[in-house]
Parts: sequence; C-alpha cells; structure tokens
Amino acid sequence: MCGIIGVVGDTDTVSTLLSGLERLEYRGYDSAGVALVRPGETWRARCADGTESVAALRRACDEAPAGFRSGIGHTRWATHGAPEAINAHPHLDCSGHVAIIHNGIIENHTELQEGLEARGHVFTSVTDSEVLAHLIEEARGRGLDLLDAVRDALGVVRGAFALAAMDATESDVIVAARRISPLVVGTAAGVTYLASDVPAILDRASAFYAVNDDEVVRLGPEGFRAVDLEGAPVRLRQLAIDWDLETAEKGGHDDFMTKEILEQPDALRATLLDRRRPDGSITFDELRVSDDELRAVKRVVLVAAGTSHHAALVAKYAIERWARLSVEVDIASEYRYRDPVVEVGTLVIGVSQSGETIDTIQAVREAKRRGARVVGIANIVDSSLAREADAVIYTRAGLEVSVASTKSFVAQVAALELLALRLAQLRQTLAESEIDALVRGLGAVGTLVEKALGRRDEVAALALALLDARDFFFLGRHVGFPTALEGALKLKEISYRHAEGYPAGELKHGPLALIEPGVVVVAVATDLALHEKLLSNLAEVKARGATVVAVATDDDETIDSVADYVLRVPATEPMFSPMVDVVALQLFAYAMARGLGRNVDRPRNLAKTVTVE
Ligand code: G6P
Repeated sequence: MCGIIGVVGDTDTVSTLLSGLERLEYRGYDSAGVALVRPGETWRARCADGTESVAALRRACDEAPAGFRSGIGHTRWATHGAPEAINAHPHLDCSGHVAIIHNGIIENHTELQEGLEARGHVFTSVTDSEVLAHLIEEARGRGLDLLDAVRDALGVVRGAFALAAMDATESDVIVAARRISPLVVGTAAGVTYLASDVPAILDRASAFYAVNDDEVVRLGPEGFRAVDLEGAPVRLRQLAIDWDLETAEKGGHDDFMTKEILEQPDALRATLLDRRRPDGSITFDELRVSDDELRAVKRVVLVAAGTSHHAALVAKYAIERWARLSVEVDIASEYRYRDPVVEVGTLVIGVSQSGETIDTIQAVREAKRRGARVVGIANIVDSSLAREADAVIYTRAGLEVSVASTKSFVAQVAALELLALRLAQLRQTLAESEIDALVRGLGAVGTLVEKALGRRDEVAALALALLDARDFFFLGRHVGFPTALEGALKLKEISYRHAEGYPAGELKHGPLALIEPGVVVVAVATDLALHEKLLSNLAEVKARGATVVAVATDDDETIDSVADYVLRVPATEPMFSPMVDVVALQLFAYAMARGLGRNVDRPRNLAKTVTVE
C-alpha cells in the first residue's frame, strides 16, 4: 500500500515531492525515497527509518543539487523484501539512468528476474519492483521511447501496479501506469503531477484526472497524454474535486469508515495477490515456516480480539473442513490466563489488524513460551505481532483509520482461508482440482463484494426505517454465526444500540425469552444447506413478535415467507459468504449510526488499537 508522487516541470521539485510524501506517509512507514532526473543525471536519496523515514529523507534532500525540474517519490509499505534502505524506492536500472517507483505486487517477478540476470542485469534489492527498472532498460536499449518501453515492460508482468518511470536520457518526462493500485494525474500551468492519492497534490494541481486499469500516461511539463497497453489513445476522466484536505484524505467521502468499507474489494485483491506459484502451490513469501513444519501441525489454536476474533472463528470452519485439523479459537485475553495446553504440533495463529493489541501479543508470547510455533496474521508491517511471531502473513488491506474494523475483516478471512487451503494442500486432504476451484472462487469474491456494495441505498433505507429499534439479535448458523457476531459488533460499536450475536440454534436455550414486539432479529441466511433449520428459528422469533431482517442470496425465494425485510447479497461458496454477507451488515450498522447522529469513525469509549489489558 505504498504512496507515490511525481512531478515534471516544477521549479521547486524537492519541496513538492517531500510535502506530498508527508501527506502519503500513512500509506507506508517502512522507507521513503526520491529520484530527481535531468539530462544525463539521476540523483537519488532513500531512507529507511520507520515512522521517521520522510523526516530523514527531508534532511538527506538538503544535499540535493539545485535545478532539477522533475522527480518521483515513494513511501513504502513492504511486501517483498525487508524494510531496509536497499529495498526502498526509487529503484534504478544497471545504467543508473532509469528510475522507477511502484505500488503493488509483480507476481511473476522471480521468473522475470531470473531471465534478466541471465541476460546480465545486476539486481541491488530484494524487491519484486526492481524488475520493472531492468525491463524498461532493455526496452530502451531496443530504441523504444520511454512510453513504449513502459508498455513493452508491462506486456510481460503479471500483478498489480501503480508505477512511475523516468529516464535521464529522456528527461522532463514521467511515464506512469496503473493496474488495480490507484493513480491520479494533476495539472497546473506548466507543471504536471501524478500521485497515488489526491491529497498528495491537492494544493498544487488545479485539475485532476483518474487513470484506469491498463492505461499508460506520458507526463511532460505541458500536460499529459494517455494510451492503453496497445498504444491506442485514451481520454482520462476528469475528477470533480472541490475537497479540502480533510475530505481528500477520506477519499472524498464523509468519513473514513465509508472509504474503508468501499475499499474492501481492493483489500481482498491485494491480500490474495501473488499467493500461487506456477505449479499451483499456494505460497506466502513472508511465511517463514517450512512445508515440513506445516505438515507436522496436529492442532491449530487461533487467538484474537474484537473483529479479528470473528475472522478467526470463520477460519475454524475452513481449516476443519478443508485441512481436517482440529481447531480451537480463543479470545486472546482469555487464552493467556487460563493455563492453556500446548502439545507438540500445536500451531498458534495470532490475528490482529494493528499487530499491537496487547491481549493478542501477550497470548502469542504465552503460546511461544509453552513451545508453540506461532504465525501472525497482521495488517501493519513490522508491528509487534509480526516481530514476535515465528512467521507472519500480511493482510494488505491498507491503513484502517476508522475505529470499527471493516476491510481488515474481509482481508483476514481471505488470508486465513488461503492458509487453510495451503494446509489442505500439504496434508492432501483436498484434491488439487478442488483446491484450484476454491482458490479461483476466492479470487472472484472481490467482484461479489462490489455487487453487495452496490446495494448501499437499499440497506440505508432499511436502517432508517428501523432507527427507533433499541434491541437487536443477530443470528446465523455455520460461518453465518461469526458473520452475525461481526454484524452485532459493528452495530453496537458505532450506533450504541444493544446488539447480540448468537448461533441460531442456541436461541431456544435462553435468548428466546427476550424476544417480544419491538426487538429486531437480523439473520444471516445465505447458507442454503442449513436454510430450513434457520427458517424454523426465524418462524419462532416472528411468532413472538420480533421484526425479522434477513440477509439472503439473490436467488432465495423462500426467505420472504419469514422475513419482514430482506437484504439481498450475491450467492457464493458458503465458506466465502462471510466476506460478502458482512458488507450488508456493515452498511446497515453504518446507516443506523449516521441516522442516529453518531460519530462513526470515533465511537465513544473505544480505541482503534488497545494496548492496555
Ligand atoms: C479494538 C478495535 C476493534 C478491533 C480490536 C482488535 O477493540 O476497536 O475494531 O477489532 O481492537 O484489534 P486488532 O488490531 O488486534 O485486530
């Protein structure tokens, strides 16, 4: 989730780049760097000082010679390669003339690098991005101008990118391109900008344009022109931006929660990128646990708090079903103090967006002390969880600002389910054809989430109709149960309405006594295998006067008989349904909270990262 910025034709290049990087800093704290380019000369500075990287870069840039009118800058969120200066962007080619910055992941970088090295290229970093510099160098060597050289390079790469390239032998030109990762172009008199996010150039550019997937843009001081990957001209869509800086940081939305809910398809895609080798095996570059160690796992224990705990509960169903391993899920603060049994072969998985939740960190420490192998699932690179665990898988959801977690949940479920499939692959508990179908299915969830997001207005209308209700029960069976827990948590966190999540079958053992007119029951009813049982449960609450809201699939015709209101979502493989169904529940909680005038980003009494017990 790196931040990128570029400028051509500026009289104050260094300060434009640095002030932009300061605004992009939140996208990645691992390192920061700039490259300034003029005819025949490239000057570069890079610093890897954690959260102080941009400040260190500002000091390093005091040494920059004057007179550069063009340059590119980058703040890094490490995916491949440690957060060290050698892996900081910009990367250079062998000649030192070509400089590139990149946000995204080049999936086939290993094979590309092998080919480039065989042809004599020397790599100086451990990143997936550096191949771009060398590919562009080769294309330039064949006489292509920078625009065509970038197009040529993109012809062989797979993956996601927002990239910008410069070449000292064709200075005052930046060529930028995008696939999946965000990129905007900005213009002002005699100066042209690019950035991953509008805030970076908001106070400098006067007009803004969105770059779409597979478009390549050539920026010069006089403006820009865009082409598709085949070289055919395309027009960039101008963005109507009358935002102040605060709105810009929220992507133009009223609050971070909306921005983050809408970012879920991208969070999913980024988390799933580059997780398969050409031979079909599922791989996690960061996971420093050998296949033999994973094969030796006898039992899995997941520890987490809050929303991460609900993602862990989904993983229990997936790991048990697919990898046939016994799984226990524990609230991190309980695990630590209950004298847990850790036998040989226990794999403990700590799940945490921040990687800093004290309960989860302490639970993981306790597990390690008792001899468990520990894997962390974290969103923040180099967080305490990432450092304390034996190995880590990063959810690449990007920074989450809103206290109530949204995009992290879907990214965590995706990462955990992929890990479940890896375990199944190693343990041979699923056929390769089944794994293949499931991995493909997982890859398609982002599109289904997009569809669910498209129903925002319907969900909001329902929430407003139920604004006066004060008690909510969220019910589900199978993975619909953790989804229900998450729906209830979202509602209580941000609307302050009383909400409880229950397994639908458990209702009759107590909570049914609380059902009366005025109570709203929200059912996650997308699992058709258990549908009849759930319908019976809903009939029971309806008979006692509850208002029933059901989250049901588009093709479910039976639900209307028991539900007063239906929130439709696209159907998917049951194990993937939490990532789709939760969207309707997030939107519902959000609309209720807004309707009640709550501060959705900063709910009372709560904190984003809880570092006290
Ligand atoms: C806090 C936040 C929640 C989050 C939980 C766990 O309670 O308000 O949104 O789910 O901590 O956080 P983690 O960073 O460990 O996932």
